[in-house]
Amino acid sequence: MSNTDLLIKNLVKEHGKSRNSLMPILQGVVQQERMLSEEAMLKIAEELDLSSAEVYGTASFYTFLDTVPRGKNVIRICKTITCHMKGKDEIINALEKELNIKVGETTSDKKFTLLSANCLGWCHKGPVMLVNDDVYPSLTVDKALDIIHEYAREKK
Ligand code: FES
Repeated sequence: MSNTDLLIKNLVKEHGKSRNSLMPILQGVVQQERMLSEEAMLKIAEELDLSSAEVYGTASFYTFLDTVPRGKNVIRICKTITCHMKGKDEIINALEKELNIKVGETTSDKKFTLLSANCLGWCHKGPVMLVNDDVYPSLTVDKALDIIHEYAREKK
């Protein structure tokens, strides 16, 4: 059994076999492997008894799909309409400048990957970003930079 298969089996054991476990299992794989391979998605589909299209659809909706390894911390900024109207561009610009990368890229020290994502379900508190599994709502530029600095110092 491959390491990926073993990881997925353990995640299924931890989260259960229901449809609701799909997200935590996807997150668990991305966290461990820093990417989500096709092999992993097929295995998850098999384990949860879902179609591979369903797994692929969920993964791509949350932009978990990546064919290259990511940084230690993955920042996902919501790009959907409410967060857009509440100023997500300002946050993205500030983070791009701070990290010296563009959305979709990883810093050369592999500490951060910056991504945009579809609605994270916190529209009433936009703009919102996710760093790994943690949600940070009601962002301002200063707040977003402070959060990133904390991760950079590896307090998180
Ligand atoms: Fe950004 Fe919903 S629009 S969280």
